[in-house]
Amino acid sequence: MHTSSESELSDEMALNNKSKKPNSPSNLYFFTTLFFIVLFTIPVFFLLHTPTTTSICTTFTSHTSHQSKTWSGDLTSAEFSWNKLQFSQQKKPLSPLKIAVFTRKWPIATTPGGMERHAYTLHTALAQRGHKVHIFTSPQDEKTSETQQGYYPFIHFHQGEFGKWRYNKALEQYEEENKKEPFDVIHSESVALPHYVARNLTNLAVSWHGIALESLQSGIFQDLARRSDEPISPLFNKSLQGVVPKVLNEIRFFRSYAHHVAISDSCGEMLRDFYQIPSKRVHVIVNGVDEDEFREDVELGREFRTKIGIPRNASLVLGVAGRLVKDKGHPLLHEAYSRLITKHPNVYLIVAGSGPWGSRYKDLGNQVLVLGSMSPSMLRAFYNAIDIFVNPTLRPQGLDLTLMEAMMSGKPLLASRFPSIKGTLLVDDEYGFMFSPNVESLLEALEEVVKDGPARLAQRGKACREYAASMFTAKKMALAYERLFLCIKDHTFCIYP
Ligand SMILES: *[C@@H]1O[C@H](CO)[C@@H](O)[C@H](O)[C@H]1NC(C)=O
Ligand SMILES: *[C@@H]1O[C@H](CO)[C@@H](O)[C@H](O)[C@H]1NC(C)=O
Ligand SMILES: *[C@@H]1O[C@H](CO)[C@@H](O)[C@H](O)[C@H]1NC(C)=O
Repeated sequence: MHTSSESELSDEMALNNKSKKPNSPSNLYFFTTLFFIVLFTIPVFFLLHTPTTTSICTTFTSHTSHQSKTWSGDLTSAEFSWNKLQFSQQKKPLSPLKIAVFTRKWPIATTPGGMERHAYTLHTALAQRGHKVHIFTSPQDEKTSETQQGYYPFIHFHQGEFGKWRYNKALEQYEEENKKEPFDVIHSESVALPHYVARNLTNLAVSWHGIALESLQSGIFQDLARRSDEPISPLFNKSLQGVVPKVLNEIRFFRSYAHHVAISDSCGEMLRDFYQIPSKRVHVIVNGVDEDEFREDVELGREFRTKIGIPRNASLVLGVAGRLVKDKGHPLLHEAYSRLITKHPNVYLIVAGSGPWGSRYKDLGNQVLVLGSMSPSMLRAFYNAIDIFVNPTLRPQGLDLTLMEAMMSGKPLLASRFPSIKGTLLVDDEYGFMFSPNVESLLEALEEVVKDGPARLAQRGKACREYAASMFTAKKMALAYERLFLCIKDHTFCIYP
C-alpha cells in the first residue's frame, strides 16, 4: 500500500539515523522510537474508543436502513459512511461522467488482492451505469493489452515491464486522453498517483485501503502476539522501527490530495482527527461485495459439509479463510482451537486458503479440514457450510473483504477487536464476537461461540445478512462513488437527498 512512498520513507529514515547516530547510542534510538510509538498510540486509542460524532451516532443507532432517510444535508459534511444512505438507482446522472482511474494493478488473470478487487468491482459497475471510465494501469501480458475501442471501462496499459507500475508513463497516456475531452474526475487507488502529482488536481479523489497509523497498530499487535521464547525477526523489527516516520510522512503528504475516501469508519476518523485533513474532504465509503455471488444457500452448505466429510454429529463448524500466514493471526487461532477441542471434541474447523500454517492445522487431527485455495463458487459453498466465520487477523489495515462476504452469506463473525471492524462491521453485539488478539481472549470468545450453538448462531447470521445487504453491496458502493464523483464535478449534487 505504502510502497510508492517507501523510497522517500527510507530516505527520511536514513536522515533520522544519520542525525541521531553521532551523539546517541543505538538503543537510545530504540527507546526514543518506543517512546514515540507509545506517545502516538495512546491518544489514538482514546480517540477511537470514546464515542465521537454524537449527532451521527444518535441518527444511526439502528442498523435498519430506513432511518437513514431522516438525514439530509451537504454530503461533504457527513462523517458517517455514505453506505447508510439510499441512492436512487433510477435517477441517472444528467450526463455521463468521464472518469480517470489510476491503479497499480487491474485484475485480469491472477488471483487479485483486496484493492484490485475493489477497483474492478467499482469501475465495472460505474461503466455499466453509462460512465466513460478509463483505467490507467501497469502492463499485463501481450494478449490482454489490447482493449476494444468504445467499450468501457477502457483499459490503458502503459508501456514497460510486465506488472511494474510507472505513474509518469500512465500520466502521459492520461494527458493524451484528457486533450481529446477533459476528465470530470480522477480516482487514485491509494498512492497510485503520488502526492506531488495529486497536489495540482482539484477534481481528484483517493481511496485509502490502509494507512500507516493502522500499520502502527498492526505492528504493536504482531509483536505482542510473539511468544516470549520467540526472537523478534530483524525484518519485522526494522518495519516496526520505521512505522512512526511513515505515519509522520503520511500526515505531511496526505493533505495534497483534494478528496479522501476512507473505506472504514475508523479510517475516516483517523484522517479527520489525527491526519488533520479538513472534514469536508474526508468521505467514508465502505467497499462492497457482489450481492449475487455471496448469498444464503442452506442446501449448498449442507452438500459441501457432506462432500468434505464433516460428520452429522458435529456440534459446531468454524470457518477461516485467507492466506495462512503469521500476521493473519493463525498462530493465535491454532493455539486457541487446539485447546478448545480438548474440551469440545465435536467442534470442527474448515480452513480455506493456503500458506505455511496449512500443515500445522493438519497436525491438529481430523477435526480440522484444510482445503487449500478455493474458486469463487467453492468459496460460496464454504461460507454456507460454516456456523461462524473466524478472522483472527493482526493486521487492521483496511477492511478484509472476507468479513463482508461471510456476513452477506448470512454468517456471524468472530473477529479481532480492531477499530475498523468494531466501527463498521460488528456495530451490534448481535452480529458476533470480538476478542483482543491474544490466545486467552480468543479462547474465551470461542467458548462463548460454543455455548451459543448453531441455532443461535444462525439467528445472528440472519441479522448479519440483513445489515450487510443494506450496507455492503457492490451496487451501494458504486452508487455512493458515483454521487461523490458528481459532487466533485458539480456541488449541487452534494446536497442530499
Ligand atoms: C531492533 O532495531 C533497533 C534499531 O535498529 C536495534 O537497536 C535493536 O537492537 C533491534 N532489536 C533486535 C532484537 O533486533
Ligand atoms: C503544480 O502547480 C504549481 C503552481 O501552479 C507548479 O509550479 C508545479 O510545477 C505544478 N506541479 C506539477 C507536478 O504539475
Ligand atoms: C461422531 O461421529 C464419528 C463418526 O461419524 C464418531 O467417530 C464419533 O465417535 C462421534 N462422536 C460422538 C461424540 O458421538
